[in-house]
Formats: sequence, structure tokens, C-alpha cells
Amino acid sequence: MTQRPRLSVIGTGYLGATHAVCMVELGYDVIGLDVDEAKIESLRAGKIPFFEPGLPELLGKHIDSGRLRFTTDYAEVAEFADVHFVCVGTPQKKGQYAADLTYVDAAFRSLAAHLTRRALVVGKSTVPAGTAARLAKLLADEAPNKEVELAWNPEFLREGFAVEDTLRPDRLVFGVRSEWAEQTIRTAFEPVIATGTPVIVTDYATAELVKVAANSFLATKISFINAMAEVCEATGADVTQLADAIGHDARIGRRFLNAGLGFGGGCLPKDIRAFIARAGELGVDQAVSFLRDVDEINLRRRARTVELGLDLLDGSYRGTKVAVLGAAFKPDSDDVRDSPALDVAAAVGRRGATVQVYDPEANASAARVHPELTYAASLDDALRGVDLVMLLTEWQVFRAMDPVTVGSLVAQRNLVDGRNVLVPSQWRDAGWHYRALGRP
Ligand code: UDX
Repeated sequence: MTQRPRLSVIGTGYLGATHAVCMVELGYDVIGLDVDEAKIESLRAGKIPFFEPGLPELLGKHIDSGRLRFTTDYAEVAEFADVHFVCVGTPQKKGQYAADLTYVDAAFRSLAAHLTRRALVVGKSTVPAGTAARLAKLLADEAPNKEVELAWNPEFLREGFAVEDTLRPDRLVFGVRSEWAEQTIRTAFEPVIATGTPVIVTDYATAELVKVAANSFLATKISFINAMAEVCEATGADVTQLADAIGHDARIGRRFLNAGLGFGGGCLPKDIRAFIARAGELGVDQAVSFLRDVDEINLRRRARTVELGLDLLDGSYRGTKVAVLGAAFKPDSDDVRDSPALDVAAAVGRRGATVQVYDPEANASAARVHPELTYAASLDDALRGVDLVMLLTEWQVFRAMDPVTVGSLVAQRNLVDGRNVLVPSQWRDAGWHYRALGRP
């Protein structure tokens, strides 16, 4: 076995905290850095500031061993590590499609200033193509040690499966410019590579594009089936059977063909918008113009869900009581960024309904964004006395609901299944008016 490099992880948000903890699990000594004191304090105390299955246990396991430390001091990080992973966020710019690179630039600048010994800096943040080349120049200009190099290593982890995806990724992509950079980054992933994980070694631009292309493809796949749902609604066809039938074709595949309320979260929506913006700057606007449709189809599903509820309530939400089941953008997450469920809940509230939201993990984060809605302490509390139930995030507890039991809690048996996860006949047999997206 080659000598294991010591690692740093800069930015301990969702991606960085997961990466830091999992790299210790893989056998490395790691220091995590964030400019946010509160976040660092929380991690030092063994507390993950977001919900991710399996991660708190791993943090707890490694915090005591002394092989995982946290700091706010760039000098300490530069002194300690041979390989630095930059994992800071690239949110959407306010009122624009483009990505905001403020945090990436600040992290690279602060780190560069302290790099007095040879090091590999690895960018993991999702960035517009061309950013890595610019950051390589920044390092060359600003790091005191001229043997500092850059590699680009996009991250494909899914929320809810972040630990599994980090420890056992589908593939590793390394954008590098030298043999040394390739060998060094390989040593930082040695245990993962040893299990046979495919490795793609490429240039910076390709590495950057792999990430946005993958997310664009996934978003397109979801919007494709949701576009078919619109056609199903006009023809009386059933989109879930349609998805099953086309999904049997191995070239198409059934995964990511679940029609419903569509995609949200901190990645897919902002990444396709940033891609549209970057393609415009590169003069290849037309090449990705279809992504505008992907975005619009996705947003239309939210409006359609509001309409389905309206139909069930005879044309008005005013004065009604509605249970919204789910606030997170997907199950097994407390993330409400660009959440379709929360968006619909807010729209229904604006139309005059009293909305009782219940999410097993995301009530608190949802309440920060939409304090005007009511948040129920339990599923039963959310259901009690309502005129309409809207299932908008497919948590297992909602999938497992019994139509008769739920029927005894509500005032009226009206249901919108925004994720196509319930069996319509079971609910109709129990006297429910059941409506879903893309189904008769
Ligand atoms: C995504 C990518 O999958 C991941 O590789 C990348 O690193 C980050 O972005 P994530 O945002 O965690 O991951 O969620 P994902 O599981 O991809 O789901 C995204 C959204 O699509 C969710 O809102 C989900 O509800 C929705 N979705 C997914 C559908 O509407 N239908 C589907 O068939 C699949």
C-alpha cells in the first residue's frame, strides 16, 4: 500500500461533512474546515446539522478517535493536509440563472494564501465549465509554493444515500493536468478504487461537465415522464403503467421515471439553470435550450397539483382545511430547498386554505421558510378534521397509510396523491375521492 495522504475538507455543509466523515471511515486522517463557527462547534460536539441516515453514527464513531478534527483556521488546514477537497456551495444567484461562485473563489483564495508546501487541491463543488482552469491559474498566481496543483473531482451523491454513495460510488471522475496530480488523487481514493470502482481520468472541462450533464439527464428523464403524464391526463391513459412498460426496455430503464410532482432540491433545479446560463456565455445556447422546457414541465406539475385539489374542493380552497403530507424535496431528507411539496403547500395557503403540514424530519426547516403555515406534531394531528389530504413527499409512513384509519380522522375523504405511491383502488374502495397526476 502506498503512503496515505492526509486530507482536508473545506466547507462542511452537506457535501463536505459527508465527505469528511466518510474519508475517515475509509482510513484517512481528516481535518474539516468551515468559516461558520456554529457549524464547526456542532460537528466538534458530534452533531450533524442536517438529517442524513447513518451519518451521525459515523461522526460519533470517528470524533473520539482523534482522526477527525474540525477548525476555522486555514493555516492549520494548510499545515496538516497533503490533499485538500473544496466542497463549498455554489447556489443559484438571486434573480438569475447563473451559479454564484463567491464561496468557491473565497475558499480557493484563503487556502492558496497558506499553501507553503506541496499540495493537491481537489475541487468537488458543482461549477460552470471553465471554472477549474480559472482556479488553477489562481492557485499558480497566489500560492507561495509553486508545486501546488489542482484536480477536479465531481460528486454524485444523493441525499438520503450520501454515506453509501460516498463509500461505494458508481464511478470516480478525475480531471487532472499532470501525472503527479493523477497519482496523488488516486492515493486519496485507494480503498474505493481497490473495490473495482470505475475511474475516468480526464481534463478539467470534461470533469466539470460530467456533473452537469448527469444532472441534466436525470432532470430530463423526470420531466419526460411528467410530460407524458400531461398527455395521459388528456387521453385517459395511466402514466405509471406507461412508465413500467417503457422501462422494461433496457435502453430506457425504469429508474427515474416516477411521474408526479417533479424534482426539487439543492441540485437538479439550480444545476440545469446554471447550465443554461453558462451555455449562453459559451455561445451554445441552442444546444441546451430544451432544458428550459425541462424546467417548465417540472414547475407545471406543481400548478397541476394545486388544481387537482381545487377540483376535489369544488373550485375553492377558501375556508377549507388541508393536510399536506411532506415538506422535504424528497423522502429521507430534511432539505426543503426548492421543495415541490412546500411550494404547493404555500400556494394552497395563499388561496385561503388552513394548511397543516407534517413531515417526519423537515417540519423545522420548512417553518423557517414558510412560517405562515401550520406544522403538525404528528401524522394524525395533520389529518384530523381536514377536507383534503395532499401526499406530496413519499415518506414510507405515508405510503403505509391505511385508507380506513385515515378516513376516520378526516372531515372529508378527498385525496391528491402527488407522488403516485398509493394504490388507487384501495382508497376508492374505502370511499375516498382519489386524484393523482397522470392517472385517470
Ligand atoms: C441529485 C442527483 O441524483 C445526484 O447524483 C447529485 O449529486 C445531486 O442531485 P438529490 O438532489 O439528492 O441528487 O436527489 P434525487 O434522488 O436525484 O432526486 C431529485 C428530485 O427528483 C427529488 O425531488 C425527487 O423527488 C425527484 N424525482 C426523482 C422524481 O420526481 N421522479 C423520479 O423518478 C426520481
